[in-house]
Amino acid sequence: MYTEILGTGSALPKQRITNDELAVLVDTSDEWITSRTGISERWISAGESTSDLAAEAAANALADAGVEPADIDLVISATVSPDNFTPTVSCEVQKALGLSQATCFDLWAGCTGFIFSLMTADSLLKSGFFSRALVIGAEVLSKLVDWEDRATCVLFGDGAGAAVLGRSSEPGLLSHVSGSDGSRGEVLTIGGVPLMNPWSPERAGTAGQGSLNHDQSVICMNGQEVFKFAVRAMESSIRRATELSDLSLHDISYIIPHQANNRIIQSVAGRMEMPREKFFTNLDHRGNTSSASIPMALDEMNRAGLLLPGMHLALVGFGGGLTWGASIVRWTRQS
Ligand code: UT7
Repeated sequence: MYTEILGTGSALPKQRITNDELAVLVDTSDEWITSRTGISERWISAGESTSDLAAEAAANALADAGVEPADIDLVISATVSPDNFTPTVSCEVQKALGLSQATCFDLWAGCTGFIFSLMTADSLLKSGFFSRALVIGAEVLSKLVDWEDRATCVLFGDGAGAAVLGRSSEPGLLSHVSGSDGSRGEVLTIGGVPLMNPWSPERAGTAGQGSLNHDQSVICMNGQEVFKFAVRAMESSIRRATELSDLSLHDISYIIPHQANNRIIQSVAGRMEMPREKFFTNLDHRGNTSSASIPMALDEMNRAGLLLPGMHLALVGFGGGLTWGASIVRWTRQS
């Protein structure tokens, strides 16, 4: 049994924030941000929730696929910034769109969340348990950003992307690779809520919640360590996933990387001796939207008519955990 991508969608909050606007908040400049990251602007929630953006992206993907809400039986939303612990983003999307037949759950895997969700949905479809899936990446990272930390606040944006997956008669999703290294998790963290019960120790917040203090409930990062890890993880994931699909790098029309930093992407292209133009980027006008970045980029390419039937795409991500992964997609849709 095969599976394919039937349609894509995305959504942004209404508010656009430029580098110059950030330079009013922290000691930075448009020159520093663009030269070090490639980011010029990002979209920041003015009240839209993660579930609002997820539902809008999902509705757009359903319309693009020509699939009715009642035909979706699985929803997986990747996020590191859900509105609640429960109900999940996926269940909120179910409520908003009337996906009455769906089993819904969220998946947390840092910025690799969309790749892990795609792999999970693909496996569940191929196993025969489900027949049509909505896979979403949605984030409102602006609630987790320390807006006084210039090293991180300039990087992130909010948004959502989605894809509809279905069973097919020809191969669409060809292979996946994935990996994790919890021993290096401290280089990119977002702390959880503190332990606060009537019996918790005096210093509530330092016990019972793993390795982080709750005053670290914002994005904390060792940028240079993440940078080095990202370059290696992306290169090895693309190479392995391509091999597993019995393809060579020449067969890949586009690489759709997690949109974190232009210099990371440039470096991967250089190491792999692949033309930079094969790496699609939209981070200049989106910033890093974590698990939303890959499906938002895929949707932008789809709507721009860049994807042609038979093209091979390599979707590749890396992120907190640490986690990494790649999926090879054979595009089957007529634009
Ligand atoms: O989804 C995964 C998320 N994370 C990533 O992908 C991050 C990967 N890492 C990176 O993208 C880069 O490491 C950063 C963009 C985060 C930082 O770039 P860098 O070239 O590694 O800069 P740096 O951390 O070495 O800092 C260089 C200088 C420092 O000043 P001094 O110590 O040399 O005086 C920083 O304090 O730049 C300073 N700096 C800034 N200056 C102006 C850091 N942030 C800023 C800023 N504006 N926003």
